[in-house]
Amino acid sequence: MVTIKLIENIDRELVAFPMRTIEWKTGTVVTIDQMRLPHEVVFLRMSTCRQVASAISNMKIRGAPLLGIAAAYGLALTAYSSKADKREELMKEIEESTEILKKTRPTAVNLFWALDRIMKKAQKTSGGAKAVAQAIVDEVQKMADEDVQVNRKIGEHGSRLINDKDVVLTHCNAGSLATVDYGTALGVIRAAWEQGKNISVIATETRPKLQGARLTAYELQRDGIPVTLITDSMVGHVMSKQLIDKVVVGADRIVRDAVINKIGTFTIAALAHEHGVPFYVAAPRSTFDPTCISKDVVIEERDSTEVTHFHSKRVAPRGVKALNPAFDVTPMKYVSAIVCETGTLSSNQFQRLLTA
Ligand code: MRU
Repeated sequence: MVTIKLIENIDRELVAFPMRTIEWKTGTVVTIDQMRLPHEVVFLRMSTCRQVASAISNMKIRGAPLLGIAAAYGLALTAYSSKADKREELMKEIEESTEILKKTRPTAVNLFWALDRIMKKAQKTSGGAKAVAQAIVDEVQKMADEDVQVNRKIGEHGSRLINDKDVVLTHCNAGSLATVDYGTALGVIRAAWEQGKNISVIATETRPKLQGARLTAYELQRDGIPVTLITDSMVGHVMSKQLIDKVVVGADRIVRDAVINKIGTFTIAALAHEHGVPFYVAAPRSTFDPTCISKDVVIEERDSTEVTHFHSKRVAPRGVKALNPAFDVTPMKYVSAIVCETGTLSSNQFQRLLTA
């Protein structure tokens, strides 16, 4: 994997990326290393599916919609670089790459949705290996474009829920960096801001990987949207002081009875309920999973050193045990509405849609 370090120490000047979060550049996939932000903008140039899988596992690429598109690009790399003469040989390579990508992160359904869509496209395409490979590359490009359009639609619908002068709390990063561009929860905030609403954002730092402190604060500051950072444990306090008007978060999987999102979301939702603050979830329909309920979903458990260490430096005593679930489950009763590309659904409407 080639890394191209473009700008070091961007604290001096926040730069706008000259590209989407992920792009196809003639047989390679270029993305931004999200573990290096905000202090360095480092682009990763990947040419194999294994490199994409490793970047996903190490969270250089993260955020549910982006995981889906990146995994699909992983298959596009396999297809593009394949030396297979026969269609069956290529299909076997695609299946092997799919298995590698499926093992990276288990919770975001978008990853499985995207792999499934590419596999179906390959199966339906007639012709030899070359025709199938081209169809895969074209399909991923289409999916990447669709992601941006879908996020803009989510922003359009969700912005109707946001009033002038609202203070909106968001958790983790559901912004451009978690998608191909524009974002879901941050798409709603961006759209409201673009409409001239004078809003501001409270971003939770999001322990242990600090996506809120590093990525959401960075994106919003770059776009000139007022943002204030708090630690995760301050949410109850700021809500009790009536400093929050609305909560908008993203999701990794929305099942019939719950929203699964970054660890800490459930606490925020329960506190919002306690304080009468609307709790909105913004996500594309590719995040909806009608096939299961929350108890069936695998919640990713990450290495405990992410909790015992801070910036790779041990803070907890040697030998202490630590839990590190990356996501939690927010029961539907705490969800005021789900905003997707086709509109805004109450939790009852959502449940009816999923069981229809
Ligand atoms: O572990 P991450 O950083 O991949 O988790 C991301 C989140 O939990 C986001 O809220 C979710 O994926 C929605 S992103 C539009």
